[in-house]
Amino acid sequence: MSVIAGVGMAVPEQRVTNADFEARLDTTDAWITERTGIKERRVAADGEKTRDLAVAAGAAALKDAGLTPDDVGLLVLATATPDQALPATAAFVQDELGTRGGAFDLGAACAGFVYGLVVASSMLANLEGSALVIGAETLTRIVDPDDRSTAVLFGDGAGAAVLLPSVDGRGLLAWDMGCDGSAAGLLEIRPGESYLRMDGREVFRRAVRVVVESAEATLRRAGMSASQVDVFVPHQANRRIIDAAASRLGIPEDRTVVNVDRYGNTSAASIPIALAEAAADGRLQDGQLVLLSGFGAGMTWASALIRWGS
Ligand code: ACO
Repeated sequence: MSVIAGVGMAVPEQRVTNADFEARLDTTDAWITERTGIKERRVAADGEKTRDLAVAAGAAALKDAGLTPDDVGLLVLATATPDQALPATAAFVQDELGTRGGAFDLGAACAGFVYGLVVASSMLANLEGSALVIGAETLTRIVDPDDRSTAVLFGDGAGAAVLLPSVDGRGLLAWDMGCDGSAAGLLEIRPGESYLRMDGREVFRRAVRVVVESAEATLRRAGMSASQVDVFVPHQANRRIIDAAASRLGIPEDRTVVNVDRYGNTSAASIPIALAEAAADGRLQDGQLVLLSGFGAGMTWASALIRWGS
């Protein structure tokens, strides 16, 4: 079992607002706000890479945990937007940060961070030191800038968490992971193409269902109910998906972390960015029950129930 000993995040400086899209696409701030809840997103500068965001978020999480890269015995980088096909982007991040032990990329799209959390947690008992799990993306590079149905949805950024073995029952209590590859065609970059294609309406429908089912399975495994959840941190894809899932779970709005308005969908980075912001705002208190749930291309999904504190 593992505890989250520190969290951190990094986003590019450049903001792109809905008004910026209004100026060059057939869309409106009102449409984007009403259908998605997104007001602005961050976009990586020319030359700013997934690895740069990952390194900054990883360093911030280590600082938050009071640890150094030398204390890290495993680096897991969840990303759908690696800098190049070979080697893994994790190799560059390992080199820049100077972590020890293995380093690999994990591809589970927007569920990637929670997948990474579970994988690293399971390996922790056999590691010397902590595990660093990072979700980092430059998604705006795989979105067609002229396609209004996808361009407005995504943003760039990174978030990270440092895992240490639990000594007092705090930490990861239960988890759930799934994949339905028969739905892969709903959200994909086809071979030979540069930009993602998405059946938004069908992804929406399935997203609400898998988030609710996965969160409920996780709670059941821990012998808990949704009413006991203090803070719900869902993947930030669309405000309407978040609201629908939280409402079906019976988790009130004031216990649900939402920042999709400021960052859009940052895929594997969205949950750790939301966690880092919630921690910085003092929303995550020692002993609280925190529920994470993500879904993404694949389709993949994963949830984790954490007793907060280290
Ligand atoms: N501005 C104005 N109109 C638009 C825009 C836009 N930016 N985008 C689409 N439209 C139009 C469509 O063309 C369509 O017009 P039509 O009726 O004339 O054909 C109309 O708006 C309605 O389109 P829908 O797709 O039905 O709109 P919907 O309410 O479903 O919202 C959205 C679309 C926001 C994409 C929604 O379906 C959604 O959020 N889906 C989930 C997407 C998601 O979560 N993806 C991430 C998965 S995670 C990962 O792995 C990356």
